[in-house]
Amino acid sequence: MQQSLPISEIIQSRISRRNYLPEPLTHETITAIKQMFAAFSSGPLGTSLSFSLVSREDTATQKLKLGTYGFIQGARYFIAGQIQPSVIGFLDYGYTLEKLILEFTRMGLGTCWLGGTFDRGEFSKAIGLKEGFVIPAITPIGYASETRGIGERLIRLGAGSDKRLPHEKLFFDGNPSTPLLLPEGHPLESILKAVRMAPSASNNQPWRIVVDGNLLRFYISRKPGYQKAFSQVDMQMIDMGIAMSHFDLVARENGISPEWSISETTPMFEGLEYVISVFLPS
Ligand SMILES: Cc1cc2nc3c(=O)[nH]c(=O)nc-3n(C[C@H](O)[C@H](O)[C@H](O)COP(=O)(O)O)c2cc1C
Repeated sequence: MQQSLPISEIIQSRISRRNYLPEPLTHETITAIKQMFAAFSSGPLGTSLSFSLVSREDTATQKLKLGTYGFIQGARYFIAGQIQPSVIGFLDYGYTLEKLILEFTRMGLGTCWLGGTFDRGEFSKAIGLKEGFVIPAITPIGYASETRGIGERLIRLGAGSDKRLPHEKLFFDGNPSTPLLLPEGHPLESILKAVRMAPSASNNQPWRIVVDGNLLRFYISRKPGYQKAFSQVDMQMIDMGIAMSHFDLVARENGISPEWSISETTPMFEGLEYVISVFLPS
């Protein structure tokens, strides 16, 4: 347990874990996880969220197979939530599950966002998916093995998981042709560093932020054709929610209370889709 570590350090230390040890979670850990579900039952934009902890043992008796197409090895437990699909729902889901994931990281547990490589049909049965709802993404949870298997190393290499786009390709001053320059020690520096470390589907890092004084606008730079693979789930909108959570957590750690809102009228930029704004009171 790394109770005292600041959230900015937890963010820097989290990575996707795909190989797990056979040890079951302790009763205390299971209770703590379920208590967190209760505490994280709605997103910052108002979506009500329900998460389930599913174990292989329980689902085996129902003859369900919690498959991950070989991407995850040895995991006994998974967390899956359900929402009615909407932009706000995906933002809230990304924001909230990432906050949970960071708390689990603090507890020394391994996780890995999975949006594509899991058996949606079997997981839907395991959590009793309601009519009109979707599972946006899930995560295994457990004690990760110290060493990475060859499969995990190949997946990380394939996605370029250890790399992030440089600051100047993500954060802008007024418009996307002007990279944001920050004087050293500027309050935004640590906040944007945390956004840049966010996990994203296929490590596509679709988040772009345009700064306009105390108002920052989040835009999405979609990977062409990517959405086609996911039908009802807007995977890159989940990425945007994850970036919001990193922004929000580190801003609050620095004594700033971000105010989120979706504006009707915003500057439009080629290749970018407006998502949400955040106001930082001075
Ligand atoms: C919304 C979302 C969906 C993801 N889906 C998958 C997946 O289906 N399979 C997988 O192995 N990794 C998946 N990932 C993990 C990413 O590949 C990983 O976060 C990225 O490569 C960065 O690596 P890191 O998490 O270790 O920092 C997903 C991540 C996110 C945020």
